[in-house]
Amino acid sequence: DDWQERGAAVGIRREIDQNGNPVQRLVKKGVKDFNFGRTLGEGSYSTVLAATDRQTLREYAIKVLDKNHIIKEKKVKYVNIEKEALNQLTEHPGIVRLYYTFQDKRSLYFVLDLASGGELLGVLKKMGTFDEECTRFYGAQILDAISYMHSRGVIHRDLKPENVLLDDQMHVKITDFGTAKILPKPTPISGDATPGDLLDGAETSRALSFVGTAEYVSPELLNSRNACKASDLWAFGCIIYQLLAGRPPFKAANEYLTFQKIVNLEYTFPEGFPEIAKDLVERLLVSDPDKRLPIEHIRNHQFFDGVQWGTRLWKQKAPRLK
Ligand code: ADE
Repeated sequence: DDWQERGAAVGIRREIDQNGNPVQRLVKKGVKDFNFGRTLGEGSYSTVLAATDRQTLREYAIKVLDKNHIIKEKKVKYVNIEKEALNQLTEHPGIVRLYYTFQDKRSLYFVLDLASGGELLGVLKKMGTFDEECTRFYGAQILDAISYMHSRGVIHRDLKPENVLLDDQMHVKITDFGTAKILPKPTPISGDATPGDLLDGAETSRALSFVGTAEYVSPELLNSRNACKASDLWAFGCIIYQLLAGRPPFKAANEYLTFQKIVNLEYTFPEGFPEIAKDLVERLLVSDPDKRLPIEHIRNHQFFDGVQWGTRLWKQKAPRLK
């Protein structure tokens, strides 16, 4: 029930008081403040619906989670992680923003940015492959968002084209932080265990049960069951490869065979794969996470030549897909 109290479920409502003077009241938003519309997506224990704020007419995506199902399936921890991660990632255009959370008897509600362009995966499937210019643009936006989440101590751990949404301007909005890892905040006092450190100990044993999506899982997760920031960069390398090739680098008939390919670094480039992109991917799909290209070096890689990093990247018009 701590869940409800820590929520940001407050809005400002302008009203007229008994004396006829305008006042602003802090109001908790709830289910009745929204008109619910079409289904945008369905997960194993959640449904995302389009919704409109009845006061502002602003559109949102609302993720509805069934409480009984979450408790039965022991997903309470993941729901709280998703909320905590999103609450730490409110200042970047490339990450789906969480505006309010509330609940009723049956469900939990996350009021999120609406990404009307849908999943990057859907757009890629329609196109087959992206050209270098589109891959550079979407790659740069994804990397900028990863850089921000890492700077805020959040590792996504399940980056893939399904979790990269596109807004009405066809700009990137990363979503689905349910399997994120929140790093403990650095403390000035050394030697003292922080609550985050203690949580991390529990994380290590629990992490045995967690694997992201097979095709994008890093070798360190398969070998030592330990994800780090660089694990997101492995997934980023898989995504860059997939945008240009039309399929992920490690794909097999089943998960076991896919994992074998990953730990053996067994992948090839299709004919015509651009040389400079090949060099970048080869520096990302490196088994040792410590030897993977760090974000600063990725930004400066020749593949991203000409990209205007920072706020300008998000003011830019998306290239026409081809
Ligand atoms: N599907 C899942 N989350 C979504 C969102 N925020 N916007 C649009 N579609 C979605």
